[in-house]
Amino acid sequence: MSGRATSTPGGKPPLYKIVMLGDSGVGKTSLVARLTNPDRPLNHDISATMGIEFDTQMLDTPQGKVKAQIWDTAGQERFARVLLPTYFRKAKGVILVYDITNAKSFESLSERWMAQLNDHSNADDLAKLLVGNKSDLEGSREVTQEKASAFCQEYGMEFLETSAKSGDNVLQAFEKLIGIVHDRALNAQSKSKGGGSQTGLKGVAGANKEDGAEPDIVKLEDGGASGGADASACGC
Ligand code: GTP
Repeated sequence: MSGRATSTPGGKPPLYKIVMLGDSGVGKTSLVARLTNPDRPLNHDISATMGIEFDTQMLDTPQGKVKAQIWDTAGQERFARVLLPTYFRKAKGVILVYDITNAKSFESLSERWMAQLNDHSNADDLAKLLVGNKSDLEGSREVTQEKASAFCQEYGMEFLETSAKSGDNVLQAFEKLIGIVHDRALNAQSKSKGGGSQTGLKGVAGANKEDGAEPDIVKLEDGGASGGADASACGC
């Protein structure tokens, strides 16, 4: 990767909050675990998420390194409904996950999750990526790639199939989404500066604050690579 620009004058990467959405059991927690611990085998006894968890991971984009704070919440209805407003606060990107072997989990995206997204966030401001997980289970596939592509066209997002089990496309999925998020922030910055340079993202937060909006980007206090970030780091 180019490493063309670190994004703040001090060389510290910008931090973006992204959230995982999708039915219980589609593999949201497993995808985050595969990203942050690529060598650890998939845990099939993983218990359902009971609230909100998050992890952080440094990721590469064509415009330099950024830090993703990845929030994972319970897909179970009883948890999700009360937690979603907090979950979406200040999020810049969302990964919508379904299980390619479970048609219901795909239908839930349009029947349930897109509605939640529209109710609890400014959906147009969120970068979105559709992820069909469990691609290692091709023999049990219930959702064709054509169906998924049609969904993406309708809602304006990109699409990847992943396997949290084999690791296939997992890093690519997170990098794709964070790349879109970072590009948007850089574009906003150049617009607010009348087409200035693509570095110095501190300016984006400042510019938005003047507009009375919440900052897009929060400068990190530490330069750590992953894990254990304080939620307050992104004011979430
Ligand atoms: P909630 O926390 O209830 O919302 O579920 P979740 O979406 O986080 O799913 P989770 O990561 O807990 O995975 C559910 C089950 O699917 C676990 O048994 C995982 O081991 C399994 N699983 C997850 N990803 C894959 C995958 O890519 N392939 C296969 N074969 N199994 C997977």
